[in-house]
Amino acid sequence: MEIIAHRGNKRYTPENTMASFYSAMTYPIDGIELDVQFTKDGIPVVIHDDKIDRTTNGRGYVRSFSFQEIRQFDAGTWFHERFRGEKIPSLKEVFQWASDKQVSLHVELKKQKRNSTEYLTQCLKLITNLHLEDRVIISTFYFPYLKFFKERQPKIETALITKNPILRSYHYLNHIGADAIHIRNTYHATQFYKYWSMKGIPVRPYNVHKIKDALKCQRLDVQGIITNDPKQMADIFRSE
Ligand code: G3P
Ligand code: CA
Repeated sequence: MEIIAHRGNKRYTPENTMASFYSAMTYPIDGIELDVQFTKDGIPVVIHDDKIDRTTNGRGYVRSFSFQEIRQFDAGTWFHERFRGEKIPSLKEVFQWASDKQVSLHVELKKQKRNSTEYLTQCLKLITNLHLEDRVIISTFYFPYLKFFKERQPKIETALITKNPILRSYHYLNHIGADAIHIRNTYHATQFYKYWSMKGIPVRPYNVHKIKDALKCQRLDVQGIITNDPKQMADIFRSE
């Protein structure tokens, strides 16, 4: 079962920063998950929310800043003083750092209010320029973005993220052409894990932070778990 670090080592470091990714990579994990937004001047950057308010010392929409402007904000101090100086990374910076690491990159494309085509094009360009097609898994709640990638570069794995296990059935997944499903780990969702796996759809539940939930996922043969606590999961599942 793959261990995927959600927004880096989210429990111990400020999410979606280089500090968080470096830290996650100190454990024997298989993947890193990160979120992508788009600046005013067309640079894909790694941050979860469409605003910088929660995870930096600034305020405003990501899309209202140029890359140079957004780099002025501190993305570490909100979490702890010892992370002062962390910046919002560009997607390119994360890719360059990860290019020689043995880890898959779960790139979540957040829905953009404008410039979607440019956003997707820039992300695709970064993947192909750095030859990361085999390492990146494009994931998103928004299935037109999956379609864009399937049409332009079918070699790249795509995953539909969802909270709803009923709507996103096997036939529905087939219809939109997603390779995998990343689903919020709820009691109702677990009923579907074996079914999807048997149909050849990799299932990677997210928000698996407790050991008992991770053990249940393992019993249900999921492909991987997306967790805020990669250290704890590595201690349990990689100890032998
Ligand atoms: O990997 C899926 C998960 O990251 C989706 O939820 O809100 O943490 O981006 P969110
Ligand atoms: Ca995410």
